[in-house]
Amino acid sequence: MSELCDFGLIGLAVMGENLALNVESRGYRVAVFNRTTSKVDDLMAGRAKGKQFVGCHSLEDLVSSLKTPRQVMMMVKAGPAVDDLIETLIPLLSPGDILIDGGNTFYADTERRTKYVESKGLLYCGTGVSGGEEGALLGPSMMPGGSEAAWPHVKPIFQAIAAKVGPNDDIPCCEWVGPRGAGHYVKMVHNGIEYGDMQMICEAYFLLTEGLGLSNEELYDVFEDWYQGELNSYLIEITRDIFSVMDDDGGYLVDKIMDRAGAKGTGKWMSQLALDLGVPSTLVTEAVYARCLSAMKEARVRASKVLSGPNPKYSGDKTNFIEQIRDALYASKICSYAQGFVQMQAAAIEHDWPLNFGDCAMLWRGGCIIRAVFLDRIKEAFDADPKLENLLLAPYFQEAVERSQDGWRHVVASAAQLGIPTPAFSAALAYYDGYRRERLPANLLQAQRDYFGAHTFERLDKPGTFHAEWIQLR
Ligand code: ATR
Repeated sequence: MSELCDFGLIGLAVMGENLALNVESRGYRVAVFNRTTSKVDDLMAGRAKGKQFVGCHSLEDLVSSLKTPRQVMMMVKAGPAVDDLIETLIPLLSPGDILIDGGNTFYADTERRTKYVESKGLLYCGTGVSGGEEGALLGPSMMPGGSEAAWPHVKPIFQAIAAKVGPNDDIPCCEWVGPRGAGHYVKMVHNGIEYGDMQMICEAYFLLTEGLGLSNEELYDVFEDWYQGELNSYLIEITRDIFSVMDDDGGYLVDKIMDRAGAKGTGKWMSQLALDLGVPSTLVTEAVYARCLSAMKEARVRASKVLSGPNPKYSGDKTNFIEQIRDALYASKICSYAQGFVQMQAAAIEHDWPLNFGDCAMLWRGGCIIRAVFLDRIKEAFDADPKLENLLLAPYFQEAVERSQDGWRHVVASAAQLGIPTPAFSAALAYYDGYRRERLPANLLQAQRDYFGAHTFERLDKPGTFHAEWIQLR
């Protein structure tokens, strides 16, 4: 019998195959299986040739190829396929073995599956994996949650394959997130924040092109400049590069791409869950709606022939406006992350997850799509005050918004006057202005609710619950 494997992986689509290669490249022996077994054979004859892989044609083979406690990672289509696999695997596994789901699973499924798998004497780990194909191969950001007892077993391999950050490139972007579905929840918030980041960059782009008429060469230079400063991030970097790519038959590729965005749903999940929790995650919601509006291409084409608006050309100082757009992007980004962390705090209370928010920031520091220098500042803010109520209250971010807000306000006001839609910049500013107000007009709202529905109200001047006979009092 050949040497047993350290790790088993099921599901050889893009992410699964690259993760398997990543694990093997760190000195582990890996057993692989895929429902369509020709993919196993293709891998064994191709990228896995000469490496420490065992190709399996059945789940029984995979399980019997593994050292105990077994670590079996599922990288299959999220949803019922995972439940089916769990059902098939449970009778094949032994007490203490660990089932890992690295797919884009809805956190509530992972909550449920952790309890179920634990009830069968096994351990469960639902881990967010971010970074796309390249991240999976070279070092993703990993957000594991599930059975606490699984962590010491999966930690060496997970931390070996994860992206590394820090001055010596030795801090893994992989740390235990929390019980049950906590890891997949944090992954979902990561994706929601990614939606917000992308939308905000697109708003900056629209202002720079529609408002200022910048060429792709000029856009490249603006994004290169931003990349050198506090906006330094992977998304700013790839956006810069997009402006340099030419199409085969001439012209810039970006200008030829249909302005209709797709979505796989994790942004929507975050937005729906924010509504359930009663927390204002307005940036991700606006980003989801912006994609919906973009998808209505034919309707927009029809409306564009009927509905009017102002001339979008900005007539003020070009250099200043570029700076102000940078300010708007930075301040809005701070609000977006503030909202994401507030949502995670609310979810942690709701689900009884002892989340470490500084660690969450570090998990996203490398390997994933939202990786950015900025996350170091978030980590520092939560290290200084683990119970920080809102990132906007951390001195670093308070000062950054203070510095940016004149430009930010000018951009939002100008966008409104120019008729250039900036839903994320505007929502961020409304959130900031709402959050920093001691008083909001909800006194009137409560009066309205009490007037028509006797919903009662509280008073500022004395405790208790009150109802007024509004009609008689008129
Ligand atoms: P996605 O759209 O997420 O890429 P997919 O391509 O349908 O999903 O499947 C991704 C992986 O999940 C593949 O390895 C797929 O196996 P096949 O190559 O045989 O299609 C695997 N998968 C999907 N549904 C599955 C199921 N019910 N049982 C086992 N594996 C499944």
